[in-house]
Amino acid sequence: MQTIALADIQKQVALLQIAERLFDSVTLFALFETGVFKVLSSGPKTLQQIQEKIAGNEESLRATLDAAVALKVLSRHNERYAASELLLDCLGREDSPAYLGEWVSFLHALMGPLSQLGDAVRTGSAPGALFEDMSGDNVPAKRMTAAMDAYARSRGIEIADRLDFSQTRHLLDLGCGPGTYSIAIVQKNPQISATLLDLPGPIAEARRLAAARKVEDRLEFVAADAMCYTPSKAFDTVLVSNTLHMIGPAGSLELLRRCYHMLTSGGRVIVQAQYLNDDRVSPRWPTLLNLIQRVATPHGRNHAISETKEWMEQAGFRNVQYVRFSVWNVCSCLIGERPVNLETGGRGGSDL
Ligand SMILES: C[S@@+](CC[C@H](N)C(=O)[O-])C[C@H]1O[C@@H](n2cnc3c(N)ncnc32)[C@H](O)[C@@H]1O
Repeated sequence: MQTIALADIQKQVALLQIAERLFDSVTLFALFETGVFKVLSSGPKTLQQIQEKIAGNEESLRATLDAAVALKVLSRHNERYAASELLLDCLGREDSPAYLGEWVSFLHALMGPLSQLGDAVRTGSAPGALFEDMSGDNVPAKRMTAAMDAYARSRGIEIADRLDFSQTRHLLDLGCGPGTYSIAIVQKNPQISATLLDLPGPIAEARRLAAARKVEDRLEFVAADAMCYTPSKAFDTVLVSNTLHMIGPAGSLELLRRCYHMLTSGGRVIVQAQYLNDDRVSPRWPTLLNLIQRVATPHGRNHAISETKEWMEQAGFRNVQYVRFSVWNVCSCLIGERPVNLETGGRGGSDL
């Protein structure tokens, strides 16, 4: 019988370390989903103490806790399971500034679509879970909306703090999701009224958040497909935040053309995105966001700064400027101007 050499076993072990990374994710998701981190936030607990709080099947719970210890997600001393302060702040304490529960729930919802990545490579067609029926109301879409609000409220909020909106009066937020950016912009700039547009699910959530944040009287809500929307008034600013990657290059160019015609002369479009570098293999998260689009949307793919700038210029925008935020914010912006119409003395309206 041929025996395997130690060097080959080492190769297999190295490979399996990559292949088995999914167990890190599935145990983490299960511990979060069943509330184990919340239970452990008050201190280490035995299996029975955890089970008393979360119920469920004891053997499956024990297997999950033990695997989590083996994977170093949890630790165990004297039959008590414990989580690090890092994990407890991110997943066990909803009032912690580091809380990431909404993001982890969203990633969990993507496991099904991502497991079909091979099919997407073979056939190019994606299950399109995020656009199932254009309602934005299924589980992955709802979790995406909650995750967007969580990100926008914390690390993403720089757009409202760092860009100058003093000349803005009428803002259109296309693909607003939970509306967090527009809500924050309107809160900081009392002269602005905003129109928030998205599919019905996200619009319902944006309405709820606007009411909770007490700005709903300065917002108009439109549940519609952005590709078919014809507004009844013109805007001086259009925000398209983290939306182009869901509709792909052809859709992006078409949407930017529509933005151009919805703007008054001299108005500006702000395209916020998690841009890829031109090498398309960095930064890390935008390349993963690209993968998500390939399995969860019919035509989406993430985009780089240079190609987005080209689409903006093809749509008619000029003086396109790139604005980046702090290093911990994965979002940055391209801002383009609709040229001033000299024939109308610079005060021209939109093309509506
Ligand atoms: C990733 S979320 C970004 C939400 C928000 N703008 C932000 O930056 O946090 C993209 C949003 O675009 C919306 N969207 C994509 N295609 C759309 C379309 N054709 N019409 C309306 N909304 C669309 C999605 O429903 C989703 O809420």
